[in-house]
This record gives sequence, C-alpha cells and structure tokens, in this order.
Amino acid sequence: MSDFVNSFWPWYVAAISLVSILACALLLWIAGKTKVNAHSGAGSDNTTGHVWDENLSELNNPLPRWWMWLFILTVIFGLAYLVIFPGLGSFQGTAQWSTQAEHKDDMARMEAQVAPLYAEFASKSVESLARDPRALAIGERQFMNTCAQCHGSDGRGSKSYPNLTNADSAWLGSRNAAHIVQTVSKGRTGMMPPMAAALPGETDITDVAHYVLSLSGSPFNEVKAFNGKQKFGVCAACHGMDGKGNKTLGAPNLTDNYWLHGWGEAAIVSMIKNGRTNVMPAQSPKLSADQIHVVAAYVLSIGGLPPLSAAPAAK
Ligand code: HEC
Ligand code: HEC
Repeated sequence: MSDFVNSFWPWYVAAISLVSILACALLLWIAGKTKVNAHSGAGSDNTTGHVWDENLSELNNPLPRWWMWLFILTVIFGLAYLVIFPGLGSFQGTAQWSTQAEHKDDMARMEAQVAPLYAEFASKSVESLARDPRALAIGERQFMNTCAQCHGSDGRGSKSYPNLTNADSAWLGSRNAAHIVQTVSKGRTGMMPPMAAALPGETDITDVAHYVLSLSGSPFNEVKAFNGKQKFGVCAACHGMDGKGNKTLGAPNLTDNYWLHGWGEAAIVSMIKNGRTNVMPAQSPKLSADQIHVVAAYVLSIGGLPPLSAAPAAK
C-alpha cells in the first residue's frame, strides 16, 4: 500500500470503512428493536396503516430474527475480512496477502512449468524449432503479444512496418535466424539520409524517382527514367548500381515491387528529399533470450521455411 501520497489518507480511508460498518450495525440494532411510529390512521391492530388492494395491510413488526442475524453476520464478516486482508488504509492484514505476491507466485509457478520446455528449445537451433509445432504455438502467442501491433497479426506489416512474410530479397536484412534474433533483441534503426543536396533540382529528383519506378516494372516515364539513370549513381553507394539493395547497410531492394514506405512517384520523391529514420525498439526488456529464440522460429515459419540443410547444424 505504498500508493498513498501521505500518511493522512490511510487513516482517512480506514476511518470511513470502520465508521460505515459500525453505522450499519447500529442501524440494524435500532431497526431490530423499534417499531415504526404509529402513523395517523394506524390502527391499534399492530399494522402500519398502509393498505393495498383493498385489504392487504402491512404489519408493524420488527425485522425477523433470521434476517437480522444474516445482517449481523455480514457485519462480522466485513470486520473479520478487514483484519485478515488488506483493506484498512495501509494495514497489511494478518494474512499478509497481496495481489503483487499472488501475481509473483503465479508467475513463478508458470515459469517453473515452462522452464523444462524452454530448456529443451534452447538446446535446438531456431531453424529446427521452426518445424516444432509446440514451439510455434508458443512463438505465435508471443508474436501476437509483442510484435503484432506493429507487424500485424499475420506478420504482413503495414506502411513503414516490414512484412515479415516476404521472401529474402525484399527484406532489409537477411531472412535468417541470426538477423531475426539480433533485430528482436537489439532493435534496429534504418536510416536513409536526405538526398536533396546531391540532387539539387526538382527535375533531377523526379527523374531519379522514375528510374527507381522502372527498376520494379512499375509504370514510369521513359525520358525521365533515362535521365534519372545517370543520376542514380548517388544512390548506388547504398542501394547498389543495379538497385538491388545492400543488406549490410539495410538499404532495401528497389527492384522487387515491395514498398516499405509507399509506392509511386510521390513516395519516392519524399524519400529522396527527406530521407527516413525508421526505428524498431529493442524487445529484449520484454522478452527473455529463450523467448526470443522461440519467437524467431515463428517468424521464420510464417514466410515459408528455409531448407534445414542450409541452416547451421541443429543442436
Ligand atoms: C514498435 C513497433 C515494432 C514492434 C513492437 C516490433 N517491430 Fe519489428 N520492426 C519495426 C520496424 C519499424 C522495423 C523496420 C526498421 C527499419 O526500417 O530498419 C522492424 C523490423 C523488423 C525485422 C527486420 C525485417 C527486415 O526486413 O530485415 C524483423 C525480423 C522484426 N522487425 C521482427 C519483429 C519481431 C519478431 C517483433 C516482436 C518480438 C517485432 N519485430 C516487434 C517495428 C516493430
Ligand atoms: C546512405 C545510404 C543510402 C543512400 C545514399 C540512399 N538510400 Fe535509399 N534507403 C536507404 C535505407 C537504409 C533505406 C531503408 C530505410 C528504412 O529502414 O526504413 C532506404 C529506403 C529507400 C526507399 C524506400 C524503399 C521502400 O521499400 O519503400 C527508396 C524509394 C529509396 N531509398 C530511394 C533512394 C534513392 C532514389 C536514393 C538516391 C537519390 C537513395 N535512396 C539513396 C539508404 C540509402
């Protein structure tokens, strides 16, 4: 109960709880003893004088005993509860029970249960886990909890969030276990600098944009693309002369018709002028190394499994 801002409030809350319960008890006691005052019109026949449906009259009796006792039991229950469990201001309760402790116990029990499973998973390669339905079931849940808000529940991503079901050629990095594990645990920052200084004229920029469009067979203007080809040299350092990208730099393949940051002249012109810094935050504080191992297997499985022989030997 460290959430109280100062020592006044725990007393205040405790006083309200106790006074309310005692007031209930008092009310009961009074109600159990006293009869309703005879109203004007009340008969001497022990009725309140209220009559319905012609002859249905209300008797002027105290509450029945069993009913009273039920109320008294609830009052006793309430007081006993406040002694045993936390409820009176900052008083911990004699049972020393807390939601945090219960949560911690649950977590510890759960971890003890899954520990042997994770130990088994940890001894296997990501590639072989990607073929293990038990690992994939856990990996999928982790993906839904930690990754889906950015990469989509089907892993297909959206604008600026990569589609993880793509073939390797459309990935920023290499589509393999090492890259996925590295990305998830450390995060990544994709950075393209603004290129307007290298392409001073508006025409230069749109020319290059049309050349980029031509690389993937998208609709383009032939003359502009022809002129743009000469100027694409300033992009080649990262994207390669052929525009097929450079995975080490994280510069995407511009020939594959997959557009992380949007398709079309306007999107490419904006990329050239403004550049782009695209960040995936590290997930390692949220996921343990063992969990990352398993979620990586799931990611590898959703875009089609690479052959096992190409993977580092299992185990
Ligand atoms: C807050 C949003 C966010 C979350 C959460 C997130 N990612 Fe990402 N992820 C990104 C962005 C943005 C990029 C692209 C970074 C870049 O442009 O370099 C990315 C890139 C990646 C890549 C590299 C793709 C490539 O083409 O090389 C992988 C793999 C990946 N994420 C997997 C995951 C997994 C698995 C999780 C969950 C454990 C996850 N991400 C959680 C935003 C996120
Ligand atoms: C210093 C390296 C570098 C240079 C030079 C560079 N780029 Fe990039 N470019 C990148 C990186 C890295 C990304 C991916 C950013 C990310 O991770 O989101 C990128 C992304 C792009 C994209 C988005 C692709 C998509 O799938 O949406 C386009 C288009 C692009 N660049 C075009 C160009 C053009 C045209 C030039 C030359 C005028 C150029 N780039 C110069 C590094 C570079």
